[in-house]
Amino acid sequence: MTFDADTDAQHLDQALAAVRAHSDLEPELALVLGSGLGELADDVEDATVISTADVPHYPTSTVQGHAGRLVLGTLSGKPVLVIQGRVHFYEGHSARSLGFPVRLAKALGAKGLVLTNAAGGINPDFGPGTLMLITDHINLAFANPLAGPVGRGEGRFPDMSNPYDEEWREQARNIALTNRISYREGVYVWTGGPSYETPAEIRYFAHVGADAVGMSTVPEAIQAAALGLPVLGISTITNPAAGLGSEPLDHGDVLEVGRAVRSRLAAWVRGIVAEGAP
Ligand code: HPA
Repeated sequence: MTFDADTDAQHLDQALAAVRAHSDLEPELALVLGSGLGELADDVEDATVISTADVPHYPTSTVQGHAGRLVLGTLSGKPVLVIQGRVHFYEGHSARSLGFPVRLAKALGAKGLVLTNAAGGINPDFGPGTLMLITDHINLAFANPLAGPVGRGEGRFPDMSNPYDEEWREQARNIALTNRISYREGVYVWTGGPSYETPAEIRYFAHVGADAVGMSTVPEAIQAAALGLPVLGISTITNPAAGLGSEPLDHGDVLEVGRAVRSRLAAWVRGIVAEGAP
């Protein structure tokens, strides 16, 4: 389904006005928190918390583990917007809607976007609890938030040769080293969901170069690229992908592992935020 560019821009203006009615904070960074990782938002100081239900046109988040809240405040001494209200393709949203939180972050003044997610490990070395710095992605949902007319401030054919900012990744590596945070690096593949993958699909993803699989992040990274907003992405591997482990996949396990590694992830993200936008 396509969108109307003028209406799209008006919707964003109305959402921006609703946020501005609560806070005039201009975030340096925006952070989108994935499944089981949302509690980093509790560390935000002087927080203004806005329910996404009070933001006109914000797509409704329905997944357990994804509170629909925007938190504006200070983290590691920097003004931030924490988006605790990721929206997913499998909830029935249009591809365009998946970019809405990113467009709002940009409109609020964000200079960089940190995306975290829970993902299944395809690379056999990436077991549950691995933090994976995303180096690149593969879009196997074949949906794109830019499909349709050119949105305000967007290019028609955005370059995607540096989707996870190289300079920022170097900063993140140094922060991990300094803080003795272990991590791996790899390629994330996006599938639409909501069903998990089949073992044959996972073998296929491994062949085409994917290290981890999940149901988010890619549309947000594409939207950010279109707006010239640098992205940093970190996956928490919560389970071996289908066919690689002994257990059936379960969202409860995904949430649990997300919680178990959250202090390591939180330490890394706090360090990243302290350095600011690249
Ligand atoms: N597949 C897709 N999405 C996921 C997975 C998975 O194995 N684990 C967490 N999110």
